[in-house]
Amino acid sequence: MGWLHKKLIRPLLFRQDSERAHNKAVNALALISRDALLLNCVEKMFGAPELPTEVFGLKFPNPVGLAAGMDKHASAVPGWAALGFGFTELGGVTWHAQPGNPPPRMFRAIPDEAVINRMGFNNSGAEAVAQKLAGWKQSGSWPAHPIGINLGKSKITPLDKAAEDYANSFRVLRDLADFFVVNVSSPNTPNLRQLQDKAALDEIFAALQSLNATHKPILVKVAPDLTFEALDEILELVAPRNIAGIVATNTTIARPQTNDAALQKIYAETGGLSGKPLRARSTEIVRHLYKQTNGKVPIIGVGGIFNADDAWEKIIAGASLVQCYTGLVYEGPGLTKKIVTGLNEKLAAGGFKNLSAAVGSASRP
Ligand SMILES: Cc1cc2nc3c(=O)[nH]c(=O)nc-3n(C[C@H](O)[C@H](O)[C@H](O)COP(=O)(O)O)c2cc1C
Repeated sequence: MGWLHKKLIRPLLFRQDSERAHNKAVNALALISRDALLLNCVEKMFGAPELPTEVFGLKFPNPVGLAAGMDKHASAVPGWAALGFGFTELGGVTWHAQPGNPPPRMFRAIPDEAVINRMGFNNSGAEAVAQKLAGWKQSGSWPAHPIGINLGKSKITPLDKAAEDYANSFRVLRDLADFFVVNVSSPNTPNLRQLQDKAALDEIFAALQSLNATHKPILVKVAPDLTFEALDEILELVAPRNIAGIVATNTTIARPQTNDAALQKIYAETGGLSGKPLRARSTEIVRHLYKQTNGKVPIIGVGGIFNADDAWEKIIAGASLVQCYTGLVYEGPGLTKKIVTGLNEKLAAGGFKNLSAAVGSASRP
């Protein structure tokens, strides 16, 4: 299947503008998601083997999730489970509906298996996404895996009103998902990343937790461009604000060195870089977070995961769960099955009795 994707489907998709190809793929999965028979076929072809794990009180059928940004409008909620994902992070969702930045805003750096995007939180707004989710719940096809929602700040909301903006989204979405991720790390909303500052983040978490009577896990997603000192400051909020975990990492504003003129042109585009060039840095951040917290705070590792080796690298560095976005673009829908199968083999070969036993095993003294 990977071969079919690389030789036939990917060249067809890659001939088109990146965002258009993305929309076609998600729309196709959205159509499939409305038909039980088709969903079943997809699940038969792509469903992943079991590798259950429990993190922040939720049960995951396997640890490989869909990263935020792929399904911003909750268009294909049952489809991601059929593709074998162990959980799905929908969004980023903002309180106000917004169009995002003008296109083109997504670019492939094919020789490096990377993507640059400056989407700017294009989404239909929290209330529309809430309606969509309520519809999926009523349809009876709600997936049997945890659903998270990535919360962003509306572009029109000033930074000093950010807490209110996140809180408004949380209020309408809190009963419709299993966990929430506060995204203060996208490079594509002006000044958003300033909200990673401890005082600003504290205010956002205070606002969300005051509305969180049912104790939904609330995580924070960090940028790979933060220093270890800045990450440590965020960690100081974990206990007082009951932060359930850290998603590490978002895309980077850094660019790899290259002599390839075509690549240099793509890397000159403004936006966040994802995919293979991000892998090592995001693993480094996972490792740092794991060590600083003595493995006590669950980490979702994301950045450049294309195969089981990449996922394993994040897990033994300290990630309890992992996520993919760009890997799915380059490797196709067989990705999850391939990764989970490989992880099961690695656990057996290493003599680990379950996934949790492997988490952080390379970062412990
Ligand atoms: C087109 C695109 C849109 C994204 N949108 C979001 C988003 O809305 N919220 C978010 O937290 N991360 C977003 N991300 C970042 C991914 O969730 C992920 O953190 C990042 O791409 C690194 O993982 P990867 O190398 O597997 O792609 C987006 C990434 C891409 C490529």
